[in-house]
Amino acid sequence: MTETLPNGEPEDALPHELTEAIEKPSEVEHGPIISFEHVNIAFGGRPVLEDVSFTVDRGQTLCILGRSGVGKSVTLRLLMGFLKSDSGSIHVENKEITELDEEGMREIRKRVTMVFQNGALFDSLSVRENVAFPLRERGGLAEDQIEQIADRLIEMVGADDVVESLPASLSTGRKRAVAIARALAAQPDVVLYDEPTTMVDPLIAKRLGNLIQRLKKQLGFTSIVVTHDMRFAERLADTVLFLHQGRAAYFGPLQGFITSGDINIQQFLTLDAYELPLSPGG
Ligand SMILES: Nc1ncnc2c1ncn2[C@@H]1O[C@H](COP(=O)(O)OP(=O)(O)OP(=O)(O)O)[C@@H](O)[C@H]1O
Ligand SMILES: [Mg+2]
Repeated sequence: MTETLPNGEPEDALPHELTEAIEKPSEVEHGPIISFEHVNIAFGGRPVLEDVSFTVDRGQTLCILGRSGVGKSVTLRLLMGFLKSDSGSIHVENKEITELDEEGMREIRKRVTMVFQNGALFDSLSVRENVAFPLRERGGLAEDQIEQIADRLIEMVGADDVVESLPASLSTGRKRAVAIARALAAQPDVVLYDEPTTMVDPLIAKRLGNLIQRLKKQLGFTSIVVTHDMRFAERLADTVLFLHQGRAAYFGPLQGFITSGDINIQQFLTLDAYELPLSPGG
């Protein structure tokens, strides 16, 4: 089934102005764009991640799966430098980030942006101004270009009917869609999504999934998606990191995860992962 955007464009095509306005992620000579090597972190003496290693290649989507409290969000926060690991190394585009100060991390956060669950939007700015914010910060764009790009991003995530609204008036799904538009306006290489489909209706979940897929196919974005929703993961993931009791119990291709004979993975797949309702058509 081919869906169309409200303006009639087929959904698998990104708007022309957008693909021109959003630079393709920068190239790196070799190696994965993200790597964790033997990462450990404990809180109050309680280990949360133990000896966790994984990599993400440029243009790929990694889904991080696992039960509540296993450290999925912690993994993303380590990558953003909001938390520091106790040991191990974390590389972003070949740069070791565990020793970076706040100034150094600011540079990394231009390459790696996170879409927070609550959207983390600026309350006093309209949807359009929220999305325009990173474009303004970047500089070099005329006011009408900024508005045009912001509006196209907002349209692309299906929030064009609320461009003038303040975030407080939006539903959770809308806030998240707007947060994705804002993240993309910052032109990152890697986008991190923490539970993008929880608390949104199935249609919005499907739209967000399509959007993440299009960004990958057409603009070469690298994504890390934390999700409870196995159907969502199956549609998006190239590779899977399954965290269980603090460890990377599985890291590898999606197919190997689904067909794994590992008892913990089997249990997760049968008991936890499919309890959410099916998205329409998905
Ligand atoms: N800043 C912190 N200080 C102390 N403990 C923390 C901190 N951040 C996370 N934790 C603990 O680390 C564990 C892992 O948390 P995390 O938020 O990563 O889980 P999760 O896998 O994302 O779970 P969920 O699926 O419920 O979102 C939890 O027990 C949490 O209480
Ligand atoms: Mg979490």
